[in-house]
Amino acid sequence: MEPQLCRSLNIMSLELLASYLGEKFEDVNQLYKELLEDKRFLGELNEQIKKARKYYQKGICRHEALDSIDWMSIQRIILYILVRLYRPAVCLETGVFYGGNTSFILNALRRNDEGKLISIDLPGNEIKKESRHHLDCISSAIRKLHSACKKMLFLETICLLPFV
Ligand SMILES: C[S@@+](CC[C@H](N)C(=O)[O-])C[C@H]1O[C@@H](n2cnc3c(N)ncnc32)[C@H](O)[C@@H]1O
Repeated sequence: MEPQLCRSLNIMSLELLASYLGEKFEDVNQLYKELLEDKRFLGELNEQIKKARKYYQKGICRHEALDSIDWMSIQRIILYILVRLYRPAVCLETGVFYGGNTSFILNALRRNDEGKLISIDLPGNEIKKESRHHLDCISSAIRKLHSACKKMLFLETICLLPFV
């Protein structure tokens, strides 16, 4: 899907989200814009995509580099907005896999400059051996974000996956 079409669909979803939450659309949209303009985060994601592409070329790794966060799924964008809007003291994430949602939550907590994330992954999925390097790359991105958020507790449960 073209980024322009993603942008229009994202805005429609965020209008629904604002109405569901009883929040002003302008406030939600402001946080969406903040994420779209976050070149540091986009750069960090691209750094990891570049490494992962050597081993895995599906999903977002089809692209050499993302030119916009709009390429990422709306669920990740919504997670970022929720964490920024409500500034939780603790987030609990179940099901980390390669850390896509984790990155967005951590980025929002970094911007909040408070709060912590506890992530739990019970290795229920069979993950192919060739995905291993891909996971290692994303895992190192999470570690980097984590060290930037000194106040956070992060249980790096990716290391519980059976092949690590
Ligand atoms: C679809 S993936 C998660 C995708 C991830 N949230 C993302 O942003 O890309 C599901 C993950 O949940 C983990 N899992 C399965 N059963 C679980 C459980 N009962 N508790 C916690 N994690 C679980 C699997 O090991 C797998 O890594």
